[in-house]
Amino acid sequence: MKKIGILTGGGDCPGLNAVIRAVVKKSSKNNWEVLGILDGWKGLIEGNVMPLNDQHISGILPKGGTILGTSRTNPFKEQGNVDKLLKNIKKFKLDALIAIGGEDTLGVALKLFKMGVPVVGIPKTIDNDISGTDYTFGFDTAVSIVTDAIDRLHTTAESHHRIMVLEVMGRHAGWIATVSGIAGGADEILIPEKPFNIEAVCKNLKARHDSGKKFSIVVVSEGAKPRDNDHFETLSEEKDEFGHVRLGGIGQRLAKEIERRLGVETRFTVLGHVQRGGSPTAYDRVLATRYGIAAVDLVKNEHFGKMVALRGYKIVPVDLNESVTKLRTVDMDIYDIAKTFFAKPEDE
Ligand code: F6P
Repeated sequence: MKKIGILTGGGDCPGLNAVIRAVVKKSSKNNWEVLGILDGWKGLIEGNVMPLNDQHISGILPKGGTILGTSRTNPFKEQGNVDKLLKNIKKFKLDALIAIGGEDTLGVALKLFKMGVPVVGIPKTIDNDISGTDYTFGFDTAVSIVTDAIDRLHTTAESHHRIMVLEVMGRHAGWIATVSGIAGGADEILIPEKPFNIEAVCKNLKARHDSGKKFSIVVVSEGAKPRDNDHFETLSEEKDEFGHVRLGGIGQRLAKEIERRLGVETRFTVLGHVQRGGSPTAYDRVLATRYGIAAVDLVKNEHFGKMVALRGYKIVPVDLNESVTKLRTVDMDIYDIAKTFFAKPEDE
């Protein structure tokens, strides 16, 4: 008989409930108890928990968000919080902790593991930027939402002979922009990994318009920046507990600049949290379910300090250390495929 604590931390994403369901189901088959920790690390600091059984997971598979709630609380930020958290692990008699999150949540999991906490990680983020795994769940859903948006922008852009700029999420990695841009047939994709030259972007769009195409679609990651100016577009100077500023604004700035330089009417759309909401795709439901089952297996075998990961078609354990030390940025082979369809690829 074991007792597992489970929490979801950082930004939510579609598929979190599918993981929770899998962990509870697999644990109950082992006759183990599961304790849901509310609102990420905050719940473990404050002792805010709820027991999870088959009743709680009924019907949650297709639901977006997380039934446990989430937060961006960093227990290492405020003195005394780690002690409170450790005391609560003892108080609730947890034999293991399953932390579902991105780089920040998994970073905390690794620190706790080094302090002796038996922890297993599960990678989630729509950004797909966790090292050690081919995919994080949530990414496929975000890509399908963005692709749908590009399709919709295409028809209105074509009717009005406009350039449409679509700003999507992606703080340090342009996976969403690149993969959705390929799927939606974008004419330019600007990502954080490749600072852009506004002059070249406009020249390419002009060449496309001069060749007879009277509309264009530009997809830009929120973290993309101009080559000669490494200032990030931020909505506010406010930082979260992990030191991240709130990004946003690059799409608007870009649209204004394109219109000024080309004299072609240019509009922008910011998809924002729409990309993170709603029901997960079938792919994300299955990946999340496989991750949940594999995490319980790691607990069973007492393989702590690991994260479950997808490699090819197999789910494997990788060291948490490997997953949090470096962000996984866009593979330039994929970006090159996208470039083949740009307005004028040779003129980068
Ligand atoms: O989930 C990751 C992410 O989507 C980033 O791409 C984005 O910058 C951030 O979350 C926004 O988070 P929040 O909802 O806390 O503003």
